[in-house]
Amino acid sequence: MNTISSLQEIQQSAESLRKSGKKVAVVPTMGYLHDGHASLIRIARQHADCVITTIFVNPLQFGPNEDYTRYPRDIDRDTKIAAAAGTDLLFTPSSEHIYPAGYLTNVSVEHLATLLEGKFRPTHFKGVTTVVAKLFHLTKPHCAVFGQKDAQQVVIIKKMVKDLNFDIDIIVGPIVREPDGLAMSSRN
Ligand code: PAF
Repeated sequence: MNTISSLQEIQQSAESLRKSGKKVAVVPTMGYLHDGHASLIRIARQHADCVITTIFVNPLQFGPNEDYTRYPRDIDRDTKIAAAAGTDLLFTPSSEHIYPAGYLTNVSVEHLATLLEGKFRPTHFKGVTTVVAKLFHLTKPHCAVFGQKDAQQVVIIKKMVKDLNFDIDIIVGPIVREPDGLAMSSRN
């Protein structure tokens, strides 16, 4: 498994994979990987020749009083889990490169982003769709795998893909649970 942090390098790698006829899958994550993420990577493996796992704690999807700075991070552990689950390329961009000074553009799925969790986290889904759209442009996948655990996120991403004509299949992986039934999450 190779790790790439440069935006230009991931775009070039994705482009040459596509040109050589390889099917590319992306698994977007915010890291601190667990068995739920590993299952999404294994599902991606079944659908593609090359699996790109992305690790980026996206500041745009955290509200002002949320846990962005305290969100757990462990890149060494994540690297081992991502490789063992079948990742070919690990993409670990920096916040400064994803959102350089002067960054102004957002992607928002109107209405759906204001319901349910969106009522309590008014900017959350705009942050998710903005970064996912950027990750799609950077990794140029044929398909992308997301967990059913974040059911509203899945609905919103599918709507963005349809409305913006992204030529990407969205695959949804089942919830993976702890022995006591709790859905696995990096925040647990
Ligand atoms: O589900 C997540 O971990 C995040 O919301 C995602 C899709 C990686 C975007 O930052």
